[in-house]
Formats: sequence, C-alpha cells, structure tokens
Amino acid sequence: MYEWITCDIDSDEMCSEVYKLLANNYVEDDENMFRFNYSKEFLRWALRPPGYFKSWHIGVRVKSSKKLVAFITGVPARVRVRDDIVTMAEVNFLCVHKKLRSKRLAPVMIKEITRRVHLENIWQAAYTAGIVIPTPITSCQYWHRSLNPKKLIEVGFSRLGPRMTMSRTIKLYKLPESTATPGFRTMGLRDVPAVTRLLSNYLSQFVVAPYFNEHDVEHWLLPTEGVVDSYVVESPETHEITDFCSFYTLPSSILGNQNYSTLKAAYSYYIVSTRTPLLQLMNDALIVAKQKDFDVFNALDLMHNESFLKELKFGPGDGNLHYYLYNYRIRHTLKPSELGLVLL
Ligand SMILES: CC(C)(COP(=O)(O)OP(=O)(O)OC[C@H]1O[C@@H](n2cnc3c(N)ncnc32)[C@H](O)[C@@H]1OP(=O)(O)O)[C@@H](O)C(=O)NCCC(=O)NCCS
Repeated sequence: MYEWITCDIDSDEMCSEVYKLLANNYVEDDENMFRFNYSKEFLRWALRPPGYFKSWHIGVRVKSSKKLVAFITGVPARVRVRDDIVTMAEVNFLCVHKKLRSKRLAPVMIKEITRRVHLENIWQAAYTAGIVIPTPITSCQYWHRSLNPKKLIEVGFSRLGPRMTMSRTIKLYKLPESTATPGFRTMGLRDVPAVTRLLSNYLSQFVVAPYFNEHDVEHWLLPTEGVVDSYVVESPETHEITDFCSFYTLPSSILGNQNYSTLKAAYSYYIVSTRTPLLQLMNDALIVAKQKDFDVFNALDLMHNESFLKELKFGPGDGNLHYYLYNYRIRHTLKPSELGLVLL
C-alpha cells in the first residue's frame, strides 16, 4: 500500500512534490496560525551540502496514487563535541501527511533513515525538535525582533503592548536607513578562506559546534538569493576580514488571514564578532534584513546571542527548540550559550 522512495531533489518535479508536502503539512505554531514554508531553493540548499547522500532523502508514497505522504532527510556533517570530531547525520524535515498522523509512521521514518545512515558507516546524528524526547543536550528559546510591527500585529504574530499605540510601536522598532559599520559588505567567493578561519576560531570555544572547512563555508555561508545572506566587515585600512554575520530566509504561511498570506522571516545563522561590537554587528544585520523587506528577525539564545537580544528589542517567543545527539553521550546538559550549532 505504501512504498519507500529516494527523492531526487535535483528533479524539479520531485522537489515540487516535497515542497508541497512540507508547505501543507510541516511544522505549525501551537495555535496553528503559521506554518513553515521552506522554499524549493532552500530545500535544495539544505539537502545538497558537500558529500551529501541521495539515499538520505527519503519519501513514502501511496503505491496506487503515487502521492507523497511522508518525508525525512539527513545530510552529513562533521560536528565537534569537546575535542572529538565526529561525522554525523543532521536529520531534518521529518513530516507525515496530516491524514496519516498518529499511525506510528514517524518511528518507521526514523528507523529507515537510521538504517541508511548506518549503511554509510556513520553512527551518530544531530537533530532538533520542538517537543521533548529523550534526552536533549540543550534547550533553546526563540526570540523575535519585529521589523514590520504593523503587519506582525495585524496577522496575530505579536500584540500591541500595554499602554502602547501603533504609532509608538512603529517608532520603537524603527531602524536606521543604512548600516553603521565601515567596511560592512556582502560576502563574496574571495572571502571564503578568511571567513573559514574566522569561523573556525570562533566556534572552537563552544562545547558542540560544526567543524567547517572551506567547502562547507562556501556551501553554507556564501550568499544564495532568497536562501542565505552573509556579510563581512572588511577593515577599510588593512582589508582584513574582522567580523561576519549571516541569516537564512524561512517564510511562514499565514493560515487564514484576509490580507496577508506570507510572513517573511530571517533567522540568525552564524555570527562572529572580533573587532566590531556584537551589538553593532547585529544591528547592521537587522538593518539589511529590514532593507530586504523581512517582517521579523528570529534568533535562538545560543552562542553569544543572549548578549544582544534584549538590547536590540528582541522579545522571547513561546516556542522552544530542543537539540539532540543520537548515540553520543555528553555528561551534562549544556547551557544554550555552550552550543555553537545552528540546524535549519
Ligand atoms: C512529527 C510527525 C512526523 C509525527 O508523526 P505523528 O503521526 O504525529 O506520530 P506517529 O504516530 O507517527 O509517531 C509518534 C511517535 O513519534 C515520536 N515523535 C513525534 N515527533 C517526533 C519528532 N519530531 N522527532 C522524533 N520523534 C518524534 C513520538 O514521540 C512518538 O513516539 P513514542 O510514542 O515512542 O513517544 C508529524 O506530527 C508531523 O509531520 N508534524 C509536523 C511536522 C513536524 O513537527 N516535524 C518534526 C519537526 S522536528
């Protein structure tokens, strides 16, 4: 009645099928007002990093109708845990069609990805979930920075604060027209070696973090239109790359609003500040996100993010994101600030 398939994400038809399954059935907020709407370009980017295995892009179809009803993926990554560099699968996009929920298909999907990961002689995995299952290595909280407060309030994403008017709220979240840091510019291919060095140094302080080489940095951090945006600070004097920031684009569908169908959200990705104060660097990230017409800028409280969230007017969200490792024991639960890994 059902059949396993390996999804060829290169194929436009297959990519569209996956896109539709996720757009209609993937993660929603607790009140079912919003649902993640990963773009096709994003899916292609997320699923084809250096060394990816096609066999880890797994679907389930109804045999008779060929309809795609479930999906799960893994991509390979080197993750450092303390001083141990481990090749892992980053597992993501577990989705079961709404009509097939609560039939214990999810554990079957997880078993099959596990089997296919083992076939590549890889025995560990990293993943995140909004729910608590055994046993998180850490639990992070989402924070949200309004860029377009009027729309966010109209669609029910946020609420007018007590004793606040719309015009005071708009004023509160207003940002400068242009960035403040001299030498702040879009990252280019020529920056890959410098960004790799900067990032490697920076990530070495966290207990769990990706172990990126230049190929990884080129894939994950070189700007891709509508998917990932990255900026460097190039010292006007020495032309050294001193700082870096990035965010990815993940819109959400707005379910049942008359006026708006999409919430355009930027998610803070990897950030490195050595010369530019982190606060100023992130404020510049907010400014470029606003210029690019994002409605909201989201960030987790991991790495050093805590130090800018309140000051830059992020508000705490109600969603938690729990991080997990499969078949890897870490002795103590981490603080979010000890985590240097951002999963999509
Ligand atoms: C998550 C989802 C695939 C679970 O499917 P389901 O039909 O609701 O649940 P099933 O009956 O198939 O399976 C239930 C089991 O899966 C486990 N499970 C549910 N969500 C899980 C997750 N995100 N990761 C790992 N296991 C999960 C449950 O703990 C339960 O196991 P248990 O009884 O041993 O505790 C489905 O609800 C879905 O597609 N939701 C929207 C997308 C989503 O949230 N994806 C996960 C993102 S992390």
